[in-house]
Amino acid sequence: MNLALRNKKAIVCGSTQGIGKAIAEGLAKQGVSLTLIARNENVLTDIVGSLDKSLGQAHDYLCIDFSKDNFSEKLDGLSGTYDILVNNTGGPAAGPITDAEPIDFEEAFKMHLINNQILVKKVVEGMKRNSFGRIINIISTSVKAPIQGLGVSNTIRAAVANWAKTLSLELGVYGITVNNVLPGFTNTNRLKSLIKKKAEIQGKPISEIELQMKKSVPLNRFGEASEVANAVVFLSSPAASYINGINLPVDGGRTASL
Ligand SMILES: NC(=O)c1ccc[n+]([C@@H]2O[C@H](COP(=O)([O-])OP(=O)(O)OC[C@H]3O[C@@H](n4cnc5c(N)ncnc54)[C@H](OP(=O)(O)O)[C@@H]3O)[C@@H](O)[C@H]2O)c1
Repeated sequence: MNLALRNKKAIVCGSTQGIGKAIAEGLAKQGVSLTLIARNENVLTDIVGSLDKSLGQAHDYLCIDFSKDNFSEKLDGLSGTYDILVNNTGGPAAGPITDAEPIDFEEAFKMHLINNQILVKKVVEGMKRNSFGRIINIISTSVKAPIQGLGVSNTIRAAVANWAKTLSLELGVYGITVNNVLPGFTNTNRLKSLIKKKAEIQGKPISEIELQMKKSVPLNRFGEASEVANAVVFLSSPAASYINGINLPVDGGRTASL
């Protein structure tokens, strides 16, 4: 299969580590030129330097904190038309929903939904002109079955999934697809911190919690960020032209729903 991604341009958010970084690496290998977005400027510079450029790709970055008020002005610095937008950022803090304060929902709604909307509005007219676009949102399997102990996250992810489905209904006619990728337990710093919190709450060693979690996955292991990235690279490509409006779990079979 020819993924035909060479010479395409992508914005990949949350790309200094974990899943976002793996997506940036995967797309760059296919010849995509990238604009990375995250907060840590030193790491952004390092990653831009290390990404594949052997096919004439050119990479840059924007240093943005999605939790801060307004970043629209920073996006004015972007030039040209983008073919691919990958919406991704750090997940909301873990905790039972009854412990959450109203402000926690407001902040997570901004980080995950309002910011996605700002980015879509930045790229969508160019995608329409090109009759090609790929918008991919990294959410969570909680949109299929809520995960205990992730109260704010479960709530906000559902809103993002419905926002994305609505977009897919509107934008398909322009050759723009909108899909969600739902990572399962993926070996990143986010997963490490969730495991640590769970171990503290349950008063058990981290190794025991890890074993329990792995047992709940039919493949009996955690996923790697590159395995999530592979799905995103495919969905970004012209080869995925008839896939629109889906939620794709990349979770080793853990989610017990169809
Ligand atoms: N890993 C899993 O097991 C798993 C499972 C299900 C869902 N997910 C979800 O998938 C997404 C990615 O997960 P991950 O494990 O790769 O997370 P991660 O390792 O925590 O990476 C998050 C990325 O987002 C950036 N980021 C965080 N806060 C930001 C902010 N305020 N503004 C701009 N950028 C910000 C971080 O870079 P800077 O620090 O440089 O800003 C980093 O590059 C998250 O939403 C997570 O909840 C993960």
